[in-house]
Amino acid sequence: MRLTILGGGGFRVPLVHRALLGDHAAGRVTHVTLHDLDAGRLSAIGRVLAEQAEGIAGAPRVTVTTDLDAALKGADFVFSAIRVGGLEGRAADERIALEEGVLGQETVGAGGIAYGLRTVPVALDIARRVAAIAPDAWVINFTNPAGLVTEAMSRHLGDRVIGICDSPVGLGRRVARALGADPHEAWMDYAGLNHLGWLSGLRVGGRDQLPRLLADSEALVSFEEGKLFGADWLRALGAIPNEYLHYYYFSRESVRAAQEAELSRGAFLRDQQRGFYALTERGGESALEAWERTRAEREATYMAESREAVGVGARDARDLDGGGYEHVALALMRAIARNERATLILNVRNGSTLPVPDAEAVVEVPCLVDANGAHPLPVSPLPDHATGLVCQVKAVEREVMAAADSGSRAAALKAFALHPLVDSVRVARRLLDTYAREHAGLSYLRP
Ligand code: G6P
Ligand code: MN
Repeated sequence: MRLTILGGGGFRVPLVHRALLGDHAAGRVTHVTLHDLDAGRLSAIGRVLAEQAEGIAGAPRVTVTTDLDAALKGADFVFSAIRVGGLEGRAADERIALEEGVLGQETVGAGGIAYGLRTVPVALDIARRVAAIAPDAWVINFTNPAGLVTEAMSRHLGDRVIGICDSPVGLGRRVARALGADPHEAWMDYAGLNHLGWLSGLRVGGRDQLPRLLADSEALVSFEEGKLFGADWLRALGAIPNEYLHYYYFSRESVRAAQEAELSRGAFLRDQQRGFYALTERGGESALEAWERTRAEREATYMAESREAVGVGARDARDLDGGGYEHVALALMRAIARNERATLILNVRNGSTLPVPDAEAVVEVPCLVDANGAHPLPVSPLPDHATGLVCQVKAVEREVMAAADSGSRAAALKAFALHPLVDSVRVARRLLDTYAREHAGLSYLRP
């Protein structure tokens, strides 16, 4: 089996590689092709992988290339994990939004829109190349904003593109643990969009255990989402929101914490990774050790501002081994390649799963995966407040796609102005002007 990773010089590629090293079954990935625009990053990550594979029998062969068509040729699976504009772009997204007093997070609010506007045209090019060169390949999209990017790509690739995220499975794992249940035995009644979903039930042995958790104040605040949202609010909602909903339910506090932080998340990661890649390109120290150290620091500080915003302490040690998105990706790939049925929460076209938005909308829901792809499973209907947010944010995503298709600035303005976390059309206009001025990747936008 041949796997191609786009964004192959990216920092989290060794996680995927590590998951592959643990797979010894027949039909596993035997060839990995890393594609990246930056040869220096490719060679740095290549060194980490080489060290990681030392002494492991049957490790996949790794090749690197900066030629997209060559990378796609013969691929059975394509992981797309690119970052258009790099972490410098992410830091600019945050800074510009925060200067206007709104959120600049890479997937939520103004920052997510700016990032989406840069990324969708590039993702569409990739989708077209895949359709031409590797039409039978399955594309697993990691690229954020993952729901929006997956939907854009689905217009060329249909159901052969599947978006993934580790936050729903992480949520399910934490809720199961808080209930004293085995996460592998639990069925998650979860629905929404990527980074905008709600867990409205968790069934173990055929019974919904969530009411028991909601009734237990101590257990309820024993895990990340409970601490972030507080027991009262979770009880009021009757559901556990994805951690990214903190930006909606506590938006003032989130913006203030981000403004007060010494470095934004993007700027922190930019500086941190600059150090890692420089060190690794120079050689000397173990590339794998440098990577491990850098990764541990990234995990420990994940969503630190959100925790800061509501005064909760450090992350649970059990959450620090990484969210496990590489395990979601591997499980998805295995289920398709070997017809090993699995249930996973994925970003796929809605079909008739949720009554709104429409069938073509990419939503994040539990799916049964087999050799024929990911099939969404029935979920409980969302309450009106959640449906409202989902529809509003999907409308924003559609304006981003329209802007990427037509180059229309008016569509881009609508995307910013219609977002629930952007509170004025004037602010939206200034955001658009500033982003368009600062990001070369937005030069396609025309009046
Ligand atoms: C979670 C999210 C991802 C995100 C990742 C890293 O896993 O689901 O979408 O890419 O965190 O976040 P960070 O702030 O460390 O880049
Ligand atoms: Mn995610």
